[in-house]
Parts: sequence; C-alpha cells; structure tokens
Amino acid sequence: MKVTVQANSNIALTKYWGKRDEKLKTPYNSNTSVTLEGLQTTTTVEFDEKYDKDVFVLDDEEFFSGSGEYDEVSEQLEIIRKKAGLKQHAKVVSKNDFPTAAGFASSASGLAALTFAAAKAAGLKLSVEELSKISRMGSGSASRSLIDGFAIWHKGEQADGEDSFAEQIAPVEHWPEFRLLGCVISKKQKKTKSRAGMAQSVKTSPIFEQWYKTAEKDAMKMVGLIKEKNFDELGKLAQDNCVLMHACAMTTRPSIFYWQPGTLEVIHKVLELQDAGKQIYFTIDGGPQTKVLCLAKDVDEFKKILSELDSVQDIIECKPGYGPRVINEHLF
Ligand code: PMV
Repeated sequence: MKVTVQANSNIALTKYWGKRDEKLKTPYNSNTSVTLEGLQTTTTVEFDEKYDKDVFVLDDEEFFSGSGEYDEVSEQLEIIRKKAGLKQHAKVVSKNDFPTAAGFASSASGLAALTFAAAKAAGLKLSVEELSKISRMGSGSASRSLIDGFAIWHKGEQADGEDSFAEQIAPVEHWPEFRLLGCVISKKQKKTKSRAGMAQSVKTSPIFEQWYKTAEKDAMKMVGLIKEKNFDELGKLAQDNCVLMHACAMTTRPSIFYWQPGTLEVIHKVLELQDAGKQIYFTIDGGPQTKVLCLAKDVDEFKKILSELDSVQDIIECKPGYGPRVINEHLF
C-alpha cells in the first residue's frame, strides 16, 4: 500500500541537548515545543516486493546506503518492518517546503512524516503515544511533531524508554495568536548535526550538568506559562533556555558554534525592541536561523523591521499547527 503524509515541524520552547540513553534516544531532560504550521514535510511510502532495497529520495535527490540520510530512513523503516512482521523493502519520496538541515527542524517533520506514513503503509494501527516513541528513535525532536499544538516530551524514568514520549499541553485553538517568524540567515547545511553535537556535549562540556538540570526546571515552568498564555514570561524563559543550550554547545570540546554574525544581528535587534517595551523574543536551534517569537497583532510591524536587516534573506511566518495527516496526492 502507498501512503502519503504531511507533517509539520516544531520548535522547542525549552530544548533538549543530550541523550541519557543513546540507544533508546531518551533525553536528559523533558522539553517543550509548539508544532508549526508553515514548515512542513510531505512523504510518500510504499512497501512492495518490487524493491530489492530501500529507496530514498529527498527534495529530488536520491540518497544511497552509507549516507547519513539513507541510513536514518532505512533504520526507521526497519523498526516499522519489525513491528508489522513485514519483509518488503520500501520506496520513500520526501519533500520539505523549507531549507533542509539548516536549523529549521527538518528532521522533526521528516521523521514524523516518515514514521506516520510507514506505519500506515505497513498496516499498523498505533496510538499517538506509540507513534511518538517510534519517531523519537529516528530523531528526538520528531517525537513532538506528532502532537497538535503545544507539547511536552517527557524524559521518562524507565530503563526501557517506554515512558519517554510527547504529550499535548494545549491544543492549537488554545493560543491561535502565537507566532514564530523564522529569519533565514543562511540556507547552507550546518557543519555539525544535532545528534553528533549533543553526544559530544554530554561527554565534554563542563557545564552539561548545569544545563540539563536547569532545562528540566525550565520545561516544568514552561508548561504553566503555556496554560496561562503568559506570553512575556514564556518569551523570556524560551530565550534564556536557548542561550544556556548554546552555551553548552559552545563550551563543548571542540566548540560547536551554530551562530553566524547574522544570527547575532537579529538577536541584538530583538533585545533593542524588548528594551523599548515590545513583546518580542528569540530562540535558536542547531543552526544559524534566529527564530522570533511574537503575537499575531505585532507580525506586520516586526516583519518590516526584521526584513530591513542586512543578514535576513527571508522570513517564514508560522503559527501553531496540527500533527501529521494523510493526504491523497502521492509524490510518485
Ligand atoms: O532531535 P534532533 O536531532 O532533531 O535535535 C534537536 C535539537 C534541538 O533542536 C537543538 C533542540 C530541540 O529540543 O529541538
């Protein structure tokens, strides 16, 4: 059977950076996010005897065994095959409507779409919780893209990882005015992928313990702020949490610097506007793009100001979005 799924990306409002268990892909700390309409991956999966190996095409480029991209997809298909008792290989064709692997969480929407589509194509009937756990194995942040609106990914306590999955904090309708303006600084693929970068931080950053213990407390606070719709406290916490995560990355040996001069140009503009009493905050993931958090009422004003900055090539506007959905138009 051939199944096509669209999945949204998500942005961590309080992040994870470090896996407690590399095999089970469980995080050191719980973390929170909002699923984003505006950054999406479409994926078609077909299991069939006619394929003598898995085939993977992303944005019109075919990837082969041995490349990180292919192996990631093939490992995820293997998990689904095992669960379904299936032997057939699959063809997977995927398209992102935003820059791949440059800090727009393409792995989150990508692995969520792949897991959802592959599970359906293999005939599995799984709960959102189950799909979140399987997505987690492909990419940690993908576990959160299964959820509509605002989510928490529980770090879990169990040795088997069965209690580490994402769950809804609040639905899309709770806060439809919430906005993210993704400022595109560079479309180049990043040098250090999150998976390798965070593993190195766990081993070598002298502030790793302070980072993840603070991030756990931040996640608990963030849940309350989302429920209360306290935008200013949420923005401040998201910003502080992001800076500590990057401090942890930067203090890794060798250092991991995701920020470019343009990343800082946007940061300083946001801080200047904050000082003038505006409701604007920033967060950054494993890449150079500065993501601005604001409310719908201020979008036009902030877009105009940000687009005038030399380093901002483009601005992608996103709002709270839904989890994966099946569509009828296949990619092959
Ligand atoms: O799970 P990955 O490999 O997509 O890594 C995500 C890492 C960050 O985006 C920096 C943080 C997060 O919680 O999303």
